[in-house]
Amino acid sequence: RTKIAQLYADAEEFGGQVVTVAGWVRSIRDMKNFGFVTLNDGSCFRDLQIVMNRDDLANYDEIAHQNVSAALIATGTVKLTPDAPQPFELAATQIVVEGASAPDYPLQKKRATPEFLRTQQHLRPRTNLFRAVFRIRSVAAAAIHTFFQDRGFVYVNTPIITANDAEGAGEMFHVTTIDPANPPRTEAGAIDYREDFFGKKASLTVSGQLNAENFALAFGDVYTFGPTFRAENSNTARHAAEFWMIEPEIAFADLSDDMDLAEAMLKYVIRRVMDTCTDELAMLARFVDKGLLERLEHVASSPFVRITYTDAIAILEQAVEAGHHFDYPVSWGIDLQTEHERFLTEEHFRQPTFVTDYPAAIKAFYMRLNEGGKTVAAMDCLVPGIGEIIGGSQREERLDVLEARIAELKMDAQEYSHYLDLRRYGSCRHAGFGLGFERLVMYLTGVSNIRDVIPHPRTVGNVEF
Ligand code: 4AD
Ligand code: MG
Repeated sequence: RTKIAQLYADAEEFGGQVVTVAGWVRSIRDMKNFGFVTLNDGSCFRDLQIVMNRDDLANYDEIAHQNVSAALIATGTVKLTPDAPQPFELAATQIVVEGASAPDYPLQKKRATPEFLRTQQHLRPRTNLFRAVFRIRSVAAAAIHTFFQDRGFVYVNTPIITANDAEGAGEMFHVTTIDPANPPRTEAGAIDYREDFFGKKASLTVSGQLNAENFALAFGDVYTFGPTFRAENSNTARHAAEFWMIEPEIAFADLSDDMDLAEAMLKYVIRRVMDTCTDELAMLARFVDKGLLERLEHVASSPFVRITYTDAIAILEQAVEAGHHFDYPVSWGIDLQTEHERFLTEEHFRQPTFVTDYPAAIKAFYMRLNEGGKTVAAMDCLVPGIGEIIGGSQREERLDVLEARIAELKMDAQEYSHYLDLRRYGSCRHAGFGLGFERLVMYLTGVSNIRDVIPHPRTVGNVEF
C-alpha cells in the first residue's frame, strides 16, 4: 500500500508505476463514460485525483454512486500530468469499496462553520481545517520534544493524580472512590477522606511543576509534557478543563535564563512548523487568518520585548490618560486581564512580550521573592492574538523564605514536606515555565477558539465522545 504523501514526495519516481492507495472520498464526478474521484488518506494535506474509465473498471457504476467520505481502496497507474494543476493522477484499474458512506453524511462539500463542526467531533478531522490544525499540532509536539532532547533535557512524566494544588487557585477536579450517596463521615460530620482510596483527598493535577522541580534538582535540565486539568469556571475561547502543558525546569538558572529558553523554544517550534507544514499553513493563511505567515515569520526572526510589570502598568495608565478604555481599571497590584495583555502585545509593542516581576500578592507561593519583598521573579509571555501563552518564574530556593511564605498563605506545610526538603539538601537557583500547548497551537494556526485545536475538547458543560 502506498501513502498519498509518498506519491507527492517522489512523483517522478512513481510515474508509470502501479500503486494501491486507501482513503476517504472527498468528491466524485461522474461523466457517464469516465469520472473523477478525489481521495484523501490523511497522510498529507493534499488529495489524490483518481481517473476512472468505464472500459477499465468493472464496477464503474458502483464507484460512481458512492457518497462523500466512503472508504475506498484504489489500484492504478500513476500518470504524471505536468500541464494540469496537480502533478499526477491515478488511472484506476481496480477500486474496492471498503466501507460505503450513507447519503446523509453531514459534511457535504459546502464550507461548514467551526461552530457546526464542533457538533461533529467525530467527523471534523476529515475537513481541511481540522486536517491542517491537527497535523500542525502533531508536528509542534514532536518539535518540542526535539528541541529539549537536542539540548540534553530529560523528559519526566509527572503524575496526573496528586494531593497538592501547585497553583493554589483551588480549581481542582477531585478524584475519589467515595460513594456520594453514602460517604464516610468524621465525628464532626465532614466527609472523611482518610477512608478514601488514597487515604486523603486527591485531585487531577493542575501543573507538573513541583514534581519537575524535584527532578531538575537531580538531572539539571528536565521537562514535562502532559495533560493538566483545571476546573476554572471560565467559559472563554482560551480556557479548557483538560489541556496539555509543556513545563521545563532548569537548575542553576535565573529568570533571564528562563526567558531565553522560552524564546528559543517558541522560535524553534514556529520554524519547524513553517518548514514542515507549508500546505497546511497556506490553507490557514487563505481561509482563517490572512496575516498568519507574516506574523510567524516576524516572531521567528525578531527579539521578544522584556518589561517589568511596574513598567507595563505605567504604559497602560498612559494609554488610559490618552483616552484608551479598559473594562477593568488599571492600577499597580491588579492581575493583568486579557484586554491589558492584548493591548501591550498587540497595540503597544506588536511583538511577543515578557512581563516580569509581578506583585507577590497575585502570584503562586513558589515564586522567588525579589529584593524589597513586594514583587516576585515571575514572567508571563504575551503574544498578539491570544495574550498569555506562557507563565513561569524563578523558584524560591531559600528554605526560610519559602517556609515563611507557606505559613503566610496558611498552606499545610506537611503536604509540602518533600518540596521543602529539596531546599535542605543541596538547594540551588532554578527556574521554569509552563507553555499552554493549545494556546501555542492557536497561535501557530490562527484559530481563535481553543475548542478547535483540541481533538475532543472538554470545557464547562461539554464532555462529548
Ligand atoms: O500560568 P500557569 O497557571 O502556570 C503554571 O501552571 C506554572 N506551574 C507553570 C510553570 O512554571 N511550570 O499556566 C501555564 C500556561 C498558561 O500560560 C496558559 O498558556 C496555559 O498554561 N493555561 C491554560 N490553557 C488552556 N486552558 C486553561 N484553562 C489554561 N490555564 C492555563
Ligand atoms: Mg499564568
